Amino acid sequence: MRKYLIAGNWKMNSAPGGAFDPGSPYQAHADIDVVVFPTYLDLERCIKAKIISGPQFGHIEEHGAHTGDISLKMCKDLGSIYCLCGHSDRRGEHSETSEEVAAQVTAALEYGLHPIVCIGETLEQKQAGKTEEVLKEMMAPLPLESDITIAYEPVWAISRGDPDTPAATPDDAQNMHALIRSLLPKDRRSVTRILYGGSMKPDNAEALLSQPDIDGGLVGGASLKPEAFQEIVDAASKLTK
Ligand code: PGA
Repeated sequence: MRKYLIAGNWKMNSAPGGAFDPGSPYQAHADIDVVVFPTYLDLERCIKAKIISGPQFGHIEEHGAHTGDISLKMCKDLGSIYCLCGHSDRRGEHSETSEEVAAQVTAALEYGLHPIVCIGETLEQKQAGKTEEVLKEMMAPLPLESDITIAYEPVWAISRGDPDTPAATPDDAQNMHALIRSLLPKDRRSVTRILYGGSMKPDNAEALLSQPDIDGGLVGGASLKPEAFQEIVDAASKLTK
């Protein structure tokens, strides 16, 4: 059985009020894995508050002449457990290639961080019938035989501040997750977790999470609202019982 993992991606937003209080929905959970990706500025506070967390991006080198960057190693030394790699914001705004994302995943593993690597097609690619090709291209350079987590995030479903953005339907998401699982090495298919990301909210979390190949969620907008995030955590927890 793969344990559910619900991750909050706070993106370039400050920690929600009360996030560091004992008993906040971001705290480690008894039944499922709960993880938060804050900005670097809130990372140490998360770690001190015993929130399982990590950076949204980290440089692959340990240190050096990289103005403005922070390394995965530094985040690990601070107490990070996870890291996010290849979010579509990074692939888009920072032109990260699939090879560069794979290098981050490999570096993260080397430093002892657990990478959650994001893959997903844009609306344009979907409309051109290129989804499968895009996912294969993003997965090809990844160390899929290693202990990593994949987040399927169709870019067209990511809310980017618009709460009316439609998520993928549970059936469509399931089909994509099954496809991604079939692209994993045989001996990793039953163990590698594949999260869904893109407008996961309290009202669709249970339907998405109950799909056989959906092992959790990477939650953006709703992770900034503690009550909404709590409801998503509760939905996953209920499904484990
Ligand atoms: P969203 O973001 O939940 O706001 O759609 C998900 C993500 O970008 O990771």
